[in-house]
Amino acid sequence: MRQSSRVHVALIMDGNGRWAERRGWERIRGHQAGGQVVERIVEAAPGLGIGVLTLYAFSSDNWSRPMPEVAGLMRLLRLHLRRERSRAMANGVAVEVIGRRDRLPQSLVREIERTEEATRGGSSLRLRLAVDYSARDAIVDAALRSREEPRAPDRERFAALLSSSPHVPVPPVDLLVRTGGEFRLSDFLLWECAYAELFFLPIMWPEFTVAELRRVLAEFEHRDRRFGRVAVGPGPEHSERRIG
Ligand code: IPE
Ligand code: IPE
Ligand code: MG
Repeated sequence: MRQSSRVHVALIMDGNGRWAERRGWERIRGHQAGGQVVERIVEAAPGLGIGVLTLYAFSSDNWSRPMPEVAGLMRLLRLHLRRERSRAMANGVAVEVIGRRDRLPQSLVREIERTEEATRGGSSLRLRLAVDYSARDAIVDAALRSREEPRAPDRERFAALLSSSPHVPVPPVDLLVRTGGEFRLSDFLLWECAYAELFFLPIMWPEFTVAELRRVLAEFEHRDRRFGRVAVGPGPEHSERRIG
């Protein structure tokens, strides 16, 4: 079944550490290699029909990792944003960072702000990078914000409140890919993935390629997304929506 052409893809980029450890290397080398994969995926995304790409870069629970790994990740994120800024501008990629900022190093926050500012209005791809992100915290924040609303929000309004910029709502996730061999969401986009098609891959994130993403997208095209309805097929009963 053909799906819409501009999809929202979410990626849980897991397995960097194990990929490096298996080679007898420091875990940070896995994160470095993972960053290079991100560059290739972002470059290819618009050509693959992806309109929104949300990447899980650092979860709020990742603060409990050893300090040198956390510091290394913060440094890599800063370098990545700085290096990618001009390329994003040239390619029309609008970069947004979601998650908390008050616990990030100031130098990273400055890089985030510069990149968001410089790439605002890019229309080929909306790239959302989740840093110090927790879906449960995002839902609690949106619930707190909803108390300012004149009436209780419906689903659409709540989805808008979940977005970091409520005037630019985030479309639901169409497909989510997790590398690294685990079968869980680890507090990522719990609301937005209500009807996402899920793909769990055994390969580690540094082994992920554009060809693999293309293969996943091709499989996604054939998934029957029913959204609670019955499968589309012959016979009049399939068009019935109401009882009575
Ligand atoms: C994912 O890779 C990247 C981050 C969480 C920052 P991991 O670092 O979790 O790699 P594994 O799962 O330990 O192999
Ligand atoms: C999820 O991976 C977070 C990112 C990929 C950034 P984790 O490695 O932190 O998840 P768990 O601990 O295996 O659930
Ligand atoms: Mg992991």
